[in-house]
Amino acid sequence: MITVQPITPDFAAEVGDVDLGKPLSAEDLAVIRAAFTRHAVLVFPDQTFDDEQQLAFARHFGPLETTVFKLRKENKLRLHENLADVSNLGNDDRILETDNRLRLYNLGNRLWHTDSSFKRVPAYCSMLYGRSVPPVGGQTEFADLRAAYDALPEETRRRIGGLVAEHSLMTSRARLGFTDFDETERKAFEPVPQVLVRRLADSGRMSLYLASHAGAIRGLPQAEAEALLGTLIEHATQRQFVYSHRWRANDLVMWDNRCTMHRGMPFDDQRYRRDMRRATVADVAPTCEQMGLSIKRSAA
Ligand code: OGA
Ligand code: MN
Repeated sequence: MITVQPITPDFAAEVGDVDLGKPLSAEDLAVIRAAFTRHAVLVFPDQTFDDEQQLAFARHFGPLETTVFKLRKENKLRLHENLADVSNLGNDDRILETDNRLRLYNLGNRLWHTDSSFKRVPAYCSMLYGRSVPPVGGQTEFADLRAAYDALPEETRRRIGGLVAEHSLMTSRARLGFTDFDETERKAFEPVPQVLVRRLADSGRMSLYLASHAGAIRGLPQAEAEALLGTLIEHATQRQFVYSHRWRANDLVMWDNRCTMHRGMPFDDQRYRRDMRRATVADVAPTCEQMGLSIKRSAA
């Protein structure tokens, strides 16, 4: 019988006694969905499955995203196009060298973010599988943006409700000084509007929606926007809102991108292999549409 054991009171939970590589019964799937609505981060230990089985599990939750690596012609994918390769490995299965572009690009995952908020229709959930994990470092930290919203002073909630931020993958990379994008990427990564506060249709809870991809807020001077985004990210990532996941090999961790942020922690990536593969399910609609805001297509 499938079990759900909270890791923190209201945020992460561990799900046991289930083999995600096998076809899931409607009952088990219902238990997982209910747990996911409540907890936003689910850890499934001891999963042994191949890429196809990981993808099959993810498809229960909606349509899958295609990796952004595919945009760049010269990139040869190591994995299936529906898997984001967040490992430190190249196509030859060797550790990427320090100046490798994919390595530098993936360093963006060290910044607090939520997946694909730089897409018009962002991600709903991500399922990250740890095939090989380093013995020290390399945790993934998760921040609960629902709890962070609930803890905001009423005045701040009033000020930010209805604000719309501009998210671009190039914004988060620029924070690290990474600007190596070709024409196709620049076009694909043009800023998109996302609400700053959202209501989750399933739980009814309110949540902040933040990421290092956000770089501007419509209608606010740039300096004010950066200051506000910085303050909100700092607020939301205080320890009481954060669960830090220490990986064991064969963990599958699933998170709700609508109401969490996450970041990867450093590890000795020239010494240890970290083979992590992420399946990502797209959300149902742009966040502005979900919140009933009509938005002009180009930036204000
Ligand atoms: C991701 C991600 C961080 C990590 O897979 O989306 O940001 O710890 N990963 O690998
Ligand atoms: Mn991510």
